[in-house]
Amino acid sequence: GGDVRVTWLGTPISELRRTPACSPPLPPLRASDTHTVAIRTDLLRLGEVPVPYPTRFKDAWDDVNVKMPCSEKNLFPVEDGVQSRWALIEKTLSQSFRSSRDVKDAILKYNAAHAKKWDFTALYSFVKGLESEEAEQLLGRLLPDIARLALNAEQLITQPVPLLKAGQSHSITLSQEQVACLLANAFFCTFPRRNSRKSEYFNYPDINFCRLFEGSSPRKVEKLKTLLWYFKQVTENMPTGLVTFTRQCLNRFPDWESSQQRLTRLHITCEGTIEDQGHGMLQVDFANRFVGGGVTAAGLVQEEIRFLINPELIVSRLFTESLQSNECLIITGTEQYSRYRGYAETYKWDEGCDDQTPRDRWQRRCTEIVAIDALKFRSFLEQFHPERMTRELNKAYCGFARPGMPRQHLSAVATGNWGCGVFGGDARLKALLQMLAAAEAGRDVVYFTFGDAALMTDVHRMHTLLTDTNVSVGTVYSLLEEYFICECRDCPNRRPTVGLYAFIAERVMNDPDSDLSPTHTHDD
Ligand code: AR6
Repeated sequence: GGDVRVTWLGTPISELRRTPACSPPLPPLRASDTHTVAIRTDLLRLGEVPVPYPTRFKDAWDDVNVKMPCSEKNLFPVEDGVQSRWALIEKTLSQSFRSSRDVKDAILKYNAAHAKKWDFTALYSFVKGLESEEAEQLLGRLLPDIARLALNAEQLITQPVPLLKAGQSHSITLSQEQVACLLANAFFCTFPRRNSRKSEYFNYPDINFCRLFEGSSPRKVEKLKTLLWYFKQVTENMPTGLVTFTRQCLNRFPDWESSQQRLTRLHITCEGTIEDQGHGMLQVDFANRFVGGGVTAAGLVQEEIRFLINPELIVSRLFTESLQSNECLIITGTEQYSRYRGYAETYKWDEGCDDQTPRDRWQRRCTEIVAIDALKFRSFLEQFHPERMTRELNKAYCGFARPGMPRQHLSAVATGNWGCGVFGGDARLKALLQMLAAAEAGRDVVYFTFGDAALMTDVHRMHTLLTDTNVSVGTVYSLLEEYFICECRDCPNRRPTVGLYAFIAERVMNDPDSDLSPTHTHDD
């Protein structure tokens, strides 16, 4: 026989829970104090575009709702007073586009204050790279379709969209059509007060797409391609489902040091990705506290890529205030429109994707994504500080826990090197912390090492050691603290001499209470 390359270890993935198979029966969709539902729930039908609720546009121009471009309070100054910005947007976006220059001119008409600063080089290179027929399609058909969708805001987004503010849990359910309309407005940069971080929205992500059009990086062209593909799909054939955005703010966390929980099951693999192999599982978004990170600007790693291939995620940037350490954002029901190749510098839009994920009773795709933001570390050692480890445990726990939901209804967590790319974390520590958080949340773990076979073996070996010796979450936490004190606190170098896993293994094996301890006499 030849070499059989091991590509996965632990529990076979087929034994781990996925939705919809593990889902509890959903109660009927209903609006409440903690759930804004922007459609007529009584008229919800499979395969039919949902009906907005209420019937007529209800304006809200205040601190608790999204300021809509179509609000009558959306005004701009002229010599003799003020004028409706929406009227100007309507007029401008109803005109035809003959060149990319016209697109720029249109956007700058109602964003006149930024005319000098905004740069549209990426949009120009994108259009230049098209065959003449494709360019004609884009300017003559797709862009006018996106503009029409944007201008439909008053008919589609009739209910004020609440801001998901820090410190409170709240859900928003929108139809995919409503999401598309909001994104069409983002594309044409119509959201008021959202062009400067000095404004009232300083603690929110950017939503207008202006920075997507800037610069000469080829990555921008690929991002534009991916997003325009989405707009092409939805304008040609409007999807009929719903998407729910939930800000989950927890106020009670496990006492990690005294936790008696045991680790849950682990499937670990060096092949595949969260989005391709994690269907039906709770899929982790390696987020920025401003959800979506650099998706509408330059960024192009795990989170940004996920937001590009499932663009409905991007609308969370419109209303999600930056996440605090006890918060996460859960997005259920987004659809994947594109496949990609490469990563970061080498990212390429590959092809369209016909997402066949089943829908739940609320007409949402059974795709649950959770945005949790890791800490960004400047030095390697700081992440072992107990305060930082507790912060990461609580953040992961917040993402994984569903208070009140019995274990048998909880899908496995599909995750990987959370916080270990751009944010500089150590994958061995983060894998362990995520396993502890998943144990407390009562969920199994599927871990994608993104090609790292050594990491796969190491994490699996650690998981096996901890489960074979029946070590509790609390004991592991105490060992992590001990590791900090013994190996990190006074460490003169950039990295500790003893690795984390070697340290833990040594302590567990020499623990007189452990089954593996050499002091145990197995023979008698
Ligand atoms: N599936 C599984 N693993 C993946 C995938 C995937 N699809 N893509 C990447 N990885 P990173 P961070 C692995 O750097 O460190 C963004 O700008 C791969 O090993 O995206 O938490 C956010 O907005 C990669 O190195 O996450 C934040 O600002 C590792 O996951 C910031 O980056 C980490 O991916 C977060 O940085």
